[in-house]
Amino acid sequence: MIRLENISKKIGGRTLFEEVSFTFNQGRYGLTGPNGSGKSTLLKIIMGVEPSTTGTVSLPRKVGFLKQRIEDFRDHLVIDTVIMGNARLWKAMQERDSLYEVEMTDAVGIRLGELEEIVAEENGYTAESEAEVLLIGMGIGEELHRKKMHEIPTDRQFRVLLCQALFGNPDALLLDEPTNHLDLESISWLEEFLHQYKGILVVVSHDRHFLNSVCTDIADLDYETIITYPGNYDAMLVTKTAVRSRAEDENKAKEKKISQLKEFVAKFGAGTRASQVQSRVREIDRLQPLELKKSNIQRPFIRFPNPEKQSGQVIFKVEGLSKGYGDHPVIQKLSFEIHRGDKIAVIGNNGKGKTTLLKLLSGVLTPDGGKITLGHGLDIGYFPQNHGDVLNKHTKETAFDWLKTRKSGAYDQDVRGVLGRMLFAGDDAFKPLQNLSGGEAARLIIGGLLLTGPNVLIMDEPNNHLDLEAVSALASGLEDYKGTAIVATHDRELINGFATKIIAFEEDKPHIFAGPLDEYLKKKNEKKSSSRPS
Ligand SMILES: Nc1ncnc2c1ncn2[C@@H]1O[C@H](COP(=O)(O)OP(=O)(O)OP(=O)(O)O)[C@@H](O)[C@H]1O
Ligand SMILES: [Mg+2]
Repeated sequence: MIRLENISKKIGGRTLFEEVSFTFNQGRYGLTGPNGSGKSTLLKIIMGVEPSTTGTVSLPRKVGFLKQRIEDFRDHLVIDTVIMGNARLWKAMQERDSLYEVEMTDAVGIRLGELEEIVAEENGYTAESEAEVLLIGMGIGEELHRKKMHEIPTDRQFRVLLCQALFGNPDALLLDEPTNHLDLESISWLEEFLHQYKGILVVVSHDRHFLNSVCTDIADLDYETIITYPGNYDAMLVTKTAVRSRAEDENKAKEKKISQLKEFVAKFGAGTRASQVQSRVREIDRLQPLELKKSNIQRPFIRFPNPEKQSGQVIFKVEGLSKGYGDHPVIQKLSFEIHRGDKIAVIGNNGKGKTTLLKLLSGVLTPDGGKITLGHGLDIGYFPQNHGDVLNKHTKETAFDWLKTRKSGAYDQDVRGVLGRMLFAGDDAFKPLQNLSGGEAARLIIGGLLLTGPNVLIMDEPNNHLDLEAVSALASGLEDYKGTAIVATHDRELINGFATKIIAFEEDKPHIFAGPLDEYLKKKNEKKSSSRPS
């Protein structure tokens, strides 16, 4: 089991959680809470990679942890990145390999013996084949196993990190938003895998469907503490709301009673009914309402400004577009048009080319063949799948600085206004980029789009990392937007909230469907059933 004792964490002036004690027993726990509440921080504290302000953690022997930064593994081979999931084994293997290159002495020989023993203990001789099985399960074909991480597509790199966490049969598994870069098929694979998993699972996610399918218990981080609820996410919501409203009702009743008592005291305090007044004063003390901590749940305000510049009627004219990586074609001879005011959801499994298409449209990539004619007067705002592409987390830059550079001549108060709407109130505006949580980073990038007011929005899985409030705010922001929006996402609520057209990367060739998602799905089902032999 994983035991937390009196864990507190204060960052700057803010308390994330205070004196939390509890135990994760055998089971599959969802760790939930709004963006910035401290979920990732808690996992890092459990792993010992970040200190807590007070308290101690005890852990089982082997714990797998899902890392979030693909940049850190850029130059490593895919297969090695997986094996690094067992740190003791990886270190021993590295040292062993370097010793085989130096001159053999007695000391070197003895050390090699020790290292071979560690490698054997950690099942090092089957490490590669185990890693390969995991990679293949995750849909990463053999041809990629010996490539460097940065040579494979972004979403595949995230899957490699998932294999890293799963490597070596850990007794406990800590996963921070594992579904973010996965398509529906791989999410089902992961759900199935986790159902079979026998250890302790703690998984952070904003994906309600996933939490419901996987979790036996929920640990919810809110009100500066962690409360566990048996059951899945929906069950937690019901109980949490009921408990909260009961506490609020009790407080209201108490306040009403107190004000009646106070009235009595005020009226007769100086008079003859001294003993009755005294007993009421005592009752007022006894009744003090519980101090209810404020919930962290907040909703950002996302309204994209009306574009300053009107674009032409045709936004993109795509003709015979082709693009591939090495000898692997991703997009082949694709032709379509996007018109002003289109609100398009780009859907389909990972690896089919959604990100590639969005990068081609926004000019980050150049086509191998065919052409894209841009409409006139386009002002494109781009939200990349990997936040690191636009937010450099290695500098000391703050959220405010970054946002200000988005628009030349922007006034400080406009920048502060946007930050406020994206929930960076007060000093939070000056948080360094490297400290931002996943959801905060996504909100900041959206803030950049609010500030600049482009007439075309191209967004690649913007809902990753965002909590439910933020996703629904984004959906209504996109719905009201007066420009053209092209958004790749797997999130049905988001798609239903804004999309009037679909680009589906589902069959062998992507195609445009001129209607919302449910119509598209209906058509697809009809086609399927009519093509079934009777
Ligand atoms: N070193 C730091 N200095 C200051 N603030 C920090 C630091 N590290 C994290 N924070 C802040 O602590 C809060 C908790 O961050 P954390 O990453 O744990 O949130 P989270 O619950 O995982 O959020 P998300 O759902 O967005 O991933 C955030 O507001 C973050 O900005
Ligand atoms: Mg997080």
